[in-house]
Amino acid sequence: MPKTKKKKTIKKVKKVKVIKKVKPEPAINAIKVSKSTPQVLRGFKDILPSEQKYWDILRAKAEKLATDFGFERIDFPIVEETSLFIRAVGKETDIVEKEMFSFTDKGGENVSLRPEATAQVARAYINHGMLNLPQPVKLWYFGPMFRYDRPQSGRYRQFNQFGLEAVGDLHPVLDALVIITSYNFVKELGLKVNVQINSIGCSTCRKEYKVQLLNYYKTQRSDLCEDCKNRMAKNPLRLLDCKEEKCQAVAEDAPQIVDWLCEECKNHFVKVLEFLDDLEIPYNLNSRLVRGLDYYTKTVFEIWPSSGSGQEKKGEAGAPAEEEKEGKKAQVALGGGGRYDNLIEMLGGRATPAVGASIGLERVILKIKEANIEAPAKRQVDIFVAQLGEAAKRKAMALYETLRQEGFEIAESFSKDGLKSQLEIANKLNVKYALILGQKELSEGTILLRDMEGGVQETININKVIKELKKRLGKQ
Ligand code: HAM
Repeated sequence: MPKTKKKKTIKKVKKVKVIKKVKPEPAINAIKVSKSTPQVLRGFKDILPSEQKYWDILRAKAEKLATDFGFERIDFPIVEETSLFIRAVGKETDIVEKEMFSFTDKGGENVSLRPEATAQVARAYINHGMLNLPQPVKLWYFGPMFRYDRPQSGRYRQFNQFGLEAVGDLHPVLDALVIITSYNFVKELGLKVNVQINSIGCSTCRKEYKVQLLNYYKTQRSDLCEDCKNRMAKNPLRLLDCKEEKCQAVAEDAPQIVDWLCEECKNHFVKVLEFLDDLEIPYNLNSRLVRGLDYYTKTVFEIWPSSGSGQEKKGEAGAPAEEEKEGKKAQVALGGGGRYDNLIEMLGGRATPAVGASIGLERVILKIKEANIEAPAKRQVDIFVAQLGEAAKRKAMALYETLRQEGFEIAESFSKDGLKSQLEIANKLNVKYALILGQKELSEGTILLRDMEGGVQETININKVIKELKKRLGKQ
């Protein structure tokens, strides 16, 4: 038999997809599930209904002020690529080095909960071609940020910021505009505050200054904390705002950056201060204010509570106390910001100047409480709808919906059956009238209208109740 030649088959080699190796997250069913009652995580908190009145005021004030000064609302995702914050905030900063909530998602992306939103503003400006809009593009935001910091009073792992950013114009009037808007925000809430301000120049003047600063610090090295010794190599400007007492003493005699500003940076700073003078904003030139984020150029500022805010009553309203004038006091800033003229270019956009600020809202609420500032009561309720019996409950619910659509301020407690407990709630709410619907009224087509102040009760035709209430409450 002739040998049949085996046909050589050429196997098609399939292209193998290279799959990125991802460090496996522990499978959900491999996580040890605690049997104890779940607790809120450290550094996080619930904002309970009793606290909402403060948030209502802050939200309303933020929206009003931002709109008055021409800012438009923008909202961002909570999660972004980790590299956005590394590039924007800076590799050597505390925020990026120690405080980011970073993780690898299921697709292998390195992502982080946002520690701040200025980086997002810059990203969005580039992504959405905002350079084609009339400049400056003025944006505001209000929402949660995340930093894995050591929790303490006024410092949380999730906190909220109200932020303002004016992008696309280098005029110093915008620095002043951002400062006055942030300052007004806290001042109009009843807090006494002052502005701490400095200029950290541009990359040219800062380069020269850093040499001078390091020359000085080299002679003081033995008096510095370990962190500051590291800062000498990594981030010399941050030497100036170390909170250690011995380092603060060294910083006192350090060369001041304002003496090293180039002509352009000096002129810019002088103009910003002139605007603040005209606006009569209390500020203090603080040569040690450098801020903890790397994107800043020229103006940097913070809003500090003045002594006299809170329960203390000393001193002139809003004026910086002596320690604040010298920039010595370890302060808890309510807000901060500055110019960031290089950030958008650093992220791949065109060179675009910008300036902005953010205010820490939990810190503002703490100060409001310390100062015993009353948050206005919730809305005034005019009418309480009470009911007795299942059939009356159904009819009362329908009436309630009609009253709501007619624009009355109303309240109810439909899950309760007893009239006494319902009227107690009506009393607590300080309502003007209670409408009471029982079996008898239901069968007669009437309803009781009780004047809660005088206690007088009248029976009226249920079909005329809307008209009657409108008349009594002076509604059209
Ligand atoms: P920042 O100084 O890091 O600046 O934060 C602004 C404010 O957020 C602080 O003054 C403080 O009130 C509040 N804050 C910061 N960390 C915490 C925390 N762990 N717990 C409670 N409140 C906190 C920025 O975030 C910049 N993005 C500001 C900016 C906007 N610069 C230019 N544009």
